[in-house]
Amino acid sequence: MRRKLAAGNWKMNGLGSALSELAAIAGCETRQTDLLICPPATLLGRAADTAAAGSCAIGGQDCHARESGAHTGDISAAMLADAGASHVLVGHSERRSDHGESDADVCAKTTAAWAAGLTAVLCLGESLAQRRSGDTLAVIGAQLAGSLPDGANGDNTVIAYEPIWAIGSGLIPEMAQIAEVHDFLRRALVERLGDDGDRIRLLYGGSVKPGNATEIFAVSNVDGALVGGASLKAADFKAIVAALDAA
Ligand code: PGA
Repeated sequence: MRRKLAAGNWKMNGLGSALSELAAIAGCETRQTDLLICPPATLLGRAADTAAAGSCAIGGQDCHARESGAHTGDISAAMLADAGASHVLVGHSERRSDHGESDADVCAKTTAAWAAGLTAVLCLGESLAQRRSGDTLAVIGAQLAGSLPDGANGDNTVIAYEPIWAIGSGLIPEMAQIAEVHDFLRRALVERLGDDGDRIRLLYGGSVKPGNATEIFAVSNVDGALVGGASLKAADFKAIVAALDAA
């Protein structure tokens, strides 16, 4: 009942020449998998044009909580929508660490995303120290409670579980650890939102590659992936999409 979602986060990578990779991704035919690429803001308009020929949604990587105003260098959710985005990442751990974003900030950004008609892809995840001290579920639970506003549903929200220590490191949790967090998130969402909580897609992110995708996608309550490095090359991303489509 929940469609799969393969999402790519290009981070601060990609010049105009990278649009050929996006064109190849957008041309990918899938059975049960939706596609999303979040390019850098400079490429949004061109990316939306490129993806329009295929079946790939385009998302921003962050938005400001305000609709407009004196915030030099920032981009509002309405601007992302105007440029052709339908989604936006909020609360990525690199935003939380590089820009000091709190759960309250992420909550405000999610509300702003919804107001602009965007689907928020809310990112959560524990540090290695938190994992080692046995605090993972407490950390994830607190992030979810603090950064997801009331009113979330399967259309306006996707949640990505991304252990910070797995991002860009080549390390991934054991499958049982991914299952534990995803099952916990599902329970927490259903408890808070009822049926709407059951419709919210849960992505795993952190070093997803063609070589580990199949085993990750077999884990319960994993509805897809948020992919960084391996989304930059169409061949790698398409292999991940194929694994998800077959799951
Ligand atoms: P990675 O990044 O796939 O390169 O580990 C994932 C992410 O940060 O979303």
